[in-house]
Amino acid sequence: MREPVRSTRITGWGMHAPELVLTNADLARIVDTSDEWIISRTGIRERRVAGPDETAASMAAIAGRRAIAVAGLEPDDIDLIVVATLTPDHLTPSTATLVREAIGNTRAAAMDLNAACSGFVYGYVTAHAFIKGRLARHVLVIGSDLLTRFLDYDDRTTCVLFGDGAGAVVLSASPEPSGAHGIEIAAEPAGAYKLWIPAGGSRRPASPESVARGEHYLRMDGPDVYRYATRAIAATARTAIERARLRRDDIDLFIPHQANSRIIEAVARGLHVPMERMFVNLDRYGNTSAASIPIALAEAVDSGRVAVGDRLLVVAFGAGFTAGAVAFEWAADPAAGGRAAAIDASSVAVRRAADWQPPNPLPAKLAALLAASSPAAPDGAGPDDASHNPVEAAR
Ligand code: COA
Repeated sequence: MREPVRSTRITGWGMHAPELVLTNADLARIVDTSDEWIISRTGIRERRVAGPDETAASMAAIAGRRAIAVAGLEPDDIDLIVVATLTPDHLTPSTATLVREAIGNTRAAAMDLNAACSGFVYGYVTAHAFIKGRLARHVLVIGSDLLTRFLDYDDRTTCVLFGDGAGAVVLSASPEPSGAHGIEIAAEPAGAYKLWIPAGGSRRPASPESVARGEHYLRMDGPDVYRYATRAIAATARTAIERARLRRDDIDLFIPHQANSRIIEAVARGLHVPMERMFVNLDRYGNTSAASIPIALAEAVDSGRVAVGDRLLVVAFGAGFTAGAVAFEWAADPAAGGRAAAIDASSVAVRRAADWQPPNPLPAKLAALLAASSPAAPDGAGPDDASHNPVEAAR
């Protein structure tokens, strides 16, 4: 007889950040901005940029393999793969099907989920529901986004904010009773066109005109998004905490979506929570959209900020508008995070179309910046040479 599912818990976690580092000073060379403006308005110092051969699927697969290793599982133990992304490799097939093959899984169901920057929290809740409904025992939930390819490097109000990366967790069924657990997910469609990419979908398929008008780039009303974010994060967090039958003071660590340190500080003030209990790593990654919470979670656990029995709150907001929060008790041994080191990024490969060779996918201005920053490779320099990271090497 199968044991009863009494709760779900995170058993594995992992992340992948591309190697290329783009600093505020680098950006100031192509757009009218400054390190001082970006740091004072956002807290961001640098972000990662996926190289020409990296995609949402390749980053997701590396983070996913690491989470599976940390959980002490084999790829085929996973029953369902959910990839939260708004920057899939293609409109179809789903990024999740590419990830399934790349991680060496032969049996899982696989699907993408688009709830923008709230995608990881929506994915976590989906996984929780599948497990509680006995449709899955181990679910791999991945947030992977590659927004640097969808930014207009002439628009200083958006191009400084985002970076690339992926983070993942394995959520597993447990016969143990659940500790505190509370969920809230929400949507507010009045904000639909406050943060959006106009073209490339069925309302406006790609055309020479849509490209010429820059309609494939992210557009944002920053101040309106800011107002929504501070309100939605606080309200969503409060509801999830209440549903877990906890009080704010019971939460040991808040892991908010890493969009802007001013938003996180405003939420901390509104919730009367000291900043020491807010995890912040956006200074090094910028806003990585659906990847931001699982990357932050992995870094929080691996840096010793989380112990067994701690109560955590993850809370996100994003385009849509969407928002979501989960309050839960941490049950896994943080030391297991060390197992992620066994997964080398170069060992994970994603299938490509045999008869189609895309050109360099980086936006021209970004590609030119990276190329200009790269000193001519000395004779015989291979991919392991420091010049392989052009921006880093140019410092
Ligand atoms: N460098 C220099 N100046 C910039 C700039 C940049 N990167 N971006 C905007 N500015 C300028 C504006 O042009 C404006 O100049 P003006 O007064 O001469 O017109 C001025 O700074 C103020 O612009 P504003 O948009 O009012 O700034 P702000 O204080 O609201 O900060 C954001 C802008 C984007 C940082 C802020 O609105 C924000 O964080 N919004 C939320 C964004 C977000 O989180 N998005 C992702 C959601 S998942």
